[in-house]
Amino acid sequence: MAETTRSAKLTIDGKEYDLPILTATAGPDVIDIRKLYADVGVFTYDPGFTSTASCDSTITFIDGEEGLLMHRGYPIDQLAEKSHFLEVCYLLLYGDLPSTTQLEDFEDRVTAHTMLHEQMHFLFRGFRRDSHPMAIMVGMVGALSAFYHDSLDINDPWQREVATIRMIAKMPTIAAMAYKYTVGQPFVYPRNDLDYASNFLRMCFAVPTADYEVNPILSRAMDRIFTLHADHEQNASTSTVRLASSSGANPFASIAAGIVCLWGPAHGGANQACLEMLKEIGTPDRIPEYIKRAKDKNDPFRLMGFGHRVYKNFDPRAKVMKQSADEVLELLGIEDNPTLQVAKELEKQALEDDYFVSKKLFPNVDFYSGIILEAMGFPTSMFTPIFAVSRTVGWISQWKEMIADPQLKIGRPRQLYKGAELRDYVDIENR
Ligand code: ACO
Repeated sequence: MAETTRSAKLTIDGKEYDLPILTATAGPDVIDIRKLYADVGVFTYDPGFTSTASCDSTITFIDGEEGLLMHRGYPIDQLAEKSHFLEVCYLLLYGDLPSTTQLEDFEDRVTAHTMLHEQMHFLFRGFRRDSHPMAIMVGMVGALSAFYHDSLDINDPWQREVATIRMIAKMPTIAAMAYKYTVGQPFVYPRNDLDYASNFLRMCFAVPTADYEVNPILSRAMDRIFTLHADHEQNASTSTVRLASSSGANPFASIAAGIVCLWGPAHGGANQACLEMLKEIGTPDRIPEYIKRAKDKNDPFRLMGFGHRVYKNFDPRAKVMKQSADEVLELLGIEDNPTLQVAKELEKQALEDDYFVSKKLFPNVDFYSGIILEAMGFPTSMFTPIFAVSRTVGWISQWKEMIADPQLKIGRPRQLYKGAELRDYVDIENR
């Protein structure tokens, strides 16, 4: 816990209380209210946690005003440019960039766990073929708890480590199998001579009847998408994982809870919703109509892929993603892709519009990611599962940090009760 150097004063009914202020390495300091209820008898009120730090963490930092995202101190644009997904996984999990031997050892361990227990293949068959792949992922990831009994004890650091490696290794296999199942094709087993991103692409797009050559540029773009989504501090799904596992729930069940939260269109589901919106707009001449709708208080429509709870400046991941979209579409010879044209023009018009400027609404990571994924051949329903594959390492890093914290308590928010006062039960004939 950070050191205390200052304090804040709270006056209630003429009585003054001192609240310690804890110092952050970067970003706002926090007022420590842990003893507030015991000492003062009041709660604080912050639905949506807009001003509440739920934990202290050393993993990821975001400066929303500056548009800065860093993992363990390294800015995301440098990691996206110079590193790769498994190295970023190591950084998030263990706190520092690995040496060559540490990286090789980590990659070997992940690679050795990419297969799923064969019995799990039969579980897929219980789902309808038209299931959303996220629905399948929620079920399959939760079901890992029924297959890997030797990594369920959260109090055993070795079992936590085994569960960590298993989830990072198996998540692409599960996502690819969910995809294959929904398109009615045979499952493709992982290949351990391929890197993480290439293996995922192959498991999604290879068929038994034809060879599948992974294009290195597409594989690099896939790896970048994984890297850019790897962690994002205490977002909704990560907070869900922390809250779920604070009860002592096993790691697989806790990560399944994160997948559920990620699915929503205000969070990970935004990439699917964004591409669907861009396609619905269809041509640049229809953009003003949609911008008008997004600004209308009486219309629930929002520009998907725009705005962020924390970023009040460009999402640094969106910049890299836009560059990647240009590269991938050029490689595939579809630079004149109409969806990309609509996206670019929509971004331009929104950023010139006073509504978006004054509310500091900028494109977020999801604005361009869907265009890349579609160009690679993924249907929109696979966008959020791919996000889940990437974010698994973030969820696990935050989970490991929480479990190892000696101050761990079950998460239990309080409330401002506004319901009926105490009253006596009335028999049904007297109501
Ligand atoms: N389009 C139009 N107006 C918007 C948008 C948008 N995309 N986003 C925010 N606003 C407006 C709100 O109507 C609100 O206006 P008001 O102050 O006049 O009431 C104001 O901007 C602030 O918005 P909030 O909803 O209070 O901001 P919050 O921080 O709660 O929401 C969120 C952030 C959920 C991301 C929101 O911007 C949104 O719904 N965006 C679209 C969905 C999306 O792209 N989600 C992906 C997030 S990134 C990720 O999860 C990877």
